[in-house]
Amino acid sequence: METNTKVIPSISNRAKSMQASPLRKLASIAEERKKNGIKVYHLNIGQPDLPTDPIFYEQLLKIPRTTVAYAPSNGIPQTIKAWKKYFEQVGIQFDESEIIVTQGGSEAIIFAMSTICDTDEEIIVFEPFYTNYNGFATLANVKLVPIPLSINNGFHLPSEEEIEKYITSKTKGILITNPSNPTGTVYSREELQRLVNLVQKYNLFLLSDEVYREFAYEGEFVSVMDFPEISQQTILLDSASKRFNLCGARIGVLASHNPDVVQSAFKFGMARLSVATIEQLAIIPMLEEPFKYTSPIVEEFRKRRDVVYETLSEIKGVTYYKPEGAFYIVIGLPVKDSEHFTQWLIEEFEYNRETVLLAPAQGFYATPGKGLNEVRLAFMLNVDDMKKSLKIISIALEEYSKKFN
Ligand SMILES: Cc1ncc(COP(=O)(O)O)c(C=O)c1O
Repeated sequence: METNTKVIPSISNRAKSMQASPLRKLASIAEERKKNGIKVYHLNIGQPDLPTDPIFYEQLLKIPRTTVAYAPSNGIPQTIKAWKKYFEQVGIQFDESEIIVTQGGSEAIIFAMSTICDTDEEIIVFEPFYTNYNGFATLANVKLVPIPLSINNGFHLPSEEEIEKYITSKTKGILITNPSNPTGTVYSREELQRLVNLVQKYNLFLLSDEVYREFAYEGEFVSVMDFPEISQQTILLDSASKRFNLCGARIGVLASHNPDVVQSAFKFGMARLSVATIEQLAIIPMLEEPFKYTSPIVEEFRKRRDVVYETLSEIKGVTYYKPEGAFYIVIGLPVKDSEHFTQWLIEEFEYNRETVLLAPAQGFYATPGKGLNEVRLAFMLNVDDMKKSLKIISIALEEYSKKFN
């Protein structure tokens, strides 16, 4: 007898465990609020609001109108050359053969994780960390082991001994984000030296995501590439997205002096054939003269950072520090549950028909219960709007405390 019961195959556990963006729900509430005539200041995402320099579009028009063909899997030779030139200008020497062009920094990170780890091997990260590392680790079947940092010292690294406690026989590497998203922390040479000592002692890889390299406001930025003693263990993960306002171009890079690492990333690259040809060509002038394009952007973000830092002192009960880089800060709020506060702020609160969308910091922690009263703020608005947003947050906190505390 025929039945109508359909058996639907189940999806993989890996797919089930893949995290959706923790910010999605709040973003859709924000859209509803806008439909009702409320102005929403978005401080929740890391998408720079500044225009892409016209040189990118000028270069696009110069591209020969032949077949849009696959590019070589490691990148178009002129683009690789341009990345080499970019790196030289920021004081990092790579051979062209040591550079693989990737689909944004994101793909570089997935390639690096897949290159160094077998299934369920471990990579140490410092939390709070860029949430998409979770998704990349799920894709690569790698376990992230978080080491907690503290707002009380501006999320700087713990001692060598403390980090050492998290190293196991399964640890293959340490992944840092420098300057950091979500905290804006920039690690000093001395802090990096602790990691260098540990990767030497335990024979680990050191993966460094330096997509915010230029956004270092307090003097010298030190790259992991500045430590020749571990040149075979370092993997640099980088991207054009943030420094050139080119998030949608999807051009990143993986670079290393370790030929096995580069060769593996190349093979992963062969499987996805190519990074977009047209964007690879259009970006070349920016890579060749980086400071011309990055300096005005960095100066704008420095101003915003300064304004945020100064204005935070006027808000009662918040815990904060001076972020040294990137365009983010994690702040502690005088609330028990920042997710509840953030949702209330976007769903119910308004001040003169305006409100603010923030990112609750729990999403940046892997350890349950961490960052419960913290939010991440991204400096995505001009100085005046940043000030207005902080004023709204300040008034909202007072009202929230009367209502819920
Ligand atoms: C720390 C960090 N790494 C990597 C990325 C990925 O950037 P993309 O893939 O656009 O280069 C981001 C994006 O926000 C980021 O914040």
